[in-house]
Amino acid sequence: MKWNSNLYDNKHSFVAEYGKSMINFVNVGKEQKILDLGCGTGVLTNELAKNGATVIGTDLSKNMIDKAKSNYPNLIFQVEDATSLPFKNEFDTVFSNAVFHWISNQEKLLHSVYTCLKDNGTLICEFGAQNNISQIQTAFEKVIEQKGYSYCSPFFFPSKEEYKLLLDQAGFEVKHIIEYDRPTPLADEEKGLRNWICQFFASDLLEFSDEQKEQILLETEKLCKNSIWKNNQWVADYRRIQIIAVKNKNNRTK
Ligand SMILES: C[S@@+](CC[C@H](N)C(=O)[O-])C[C@H]1O[C@@H](n2cnc3c(N)ncnc32)[C@H](O)[C@@H]1O
Repeated sequence: MKWNSNLYDNKHSFVAEYGKSMINFVNVGKEQKILDLGCGTGVLTNELAKNGATVIGTDLSKNMIDKAKSNYPNLIFQVEDATSLPFKNEFDTVFSNAVFHWISNQEKLLHSVYTCLKDNGTLICEFGAQNNISQIQTAFEKVIEQKGYSYCSPFFFPSKEEYKLLLDQAGFEVKHIIEYDRPTPLADEEKGLRNWICQFFASDLLEFSDEQKEQILLETEKLCKNSIWKNNQWVADYRRIQIIAVKNKNNRTK
């Protein structure tokens, strides 16, 4: 998907804001080497680097990496696909916020993360869990299908049981895994939901004219009104999965 990095920084900075609490789990000491996987515009990469750790931010989107480089010219950013990272036994921690649900090949992703961690290195990540944004996605899907198009969700939102199994199979020892509801207020009052849809469902809207797009946005808003319009703002029905898992050196063959 083509990411709009300006819309992301202007209207969706809450994504990185929520991710800041995850940094409490990370050893950010000077001697540490950390990968911020799917770093976006670099906000959390910058936080991770504040105590002197060596931090590299990687992302598949060149738009995001260009913006990260201009936001934080002193930090290192590279365009890389998380499923085929070019690192081997290099990082103490792989940190990742709001990225894994965008990736369909989870086996390849976890293998790639495992390979770039040092033995006993730690994966610390958070992303969408089972039923994340289900109100928004169900409404959007209904509107698209009523117009004679099909909608195929690009997201992977697992339960914690499902994801623990994947982590075990990839050779990780799971230290912490939880799922939780995180209702998320969207900025910009009435425009909050349409901004959100234009950012995160951008690829699904590509094939429509401006007029059709406006219709889709209006109808989706209408369908979501009862469930997620609360006290004069849109509150997205986020559910997150939070993980701390260690590379188990006895599992090298995986
Ligand atoms: C919601 S943004 C999160 C960005 C950042 N971590 C934050 O907290 O602000 C999701 C990011 O995942 C990146 N992404 C999606 N698929 C990826 C992949 N296969 N490899 C690397 N990055 C990917 C996107 O380009 C986007 O920047």
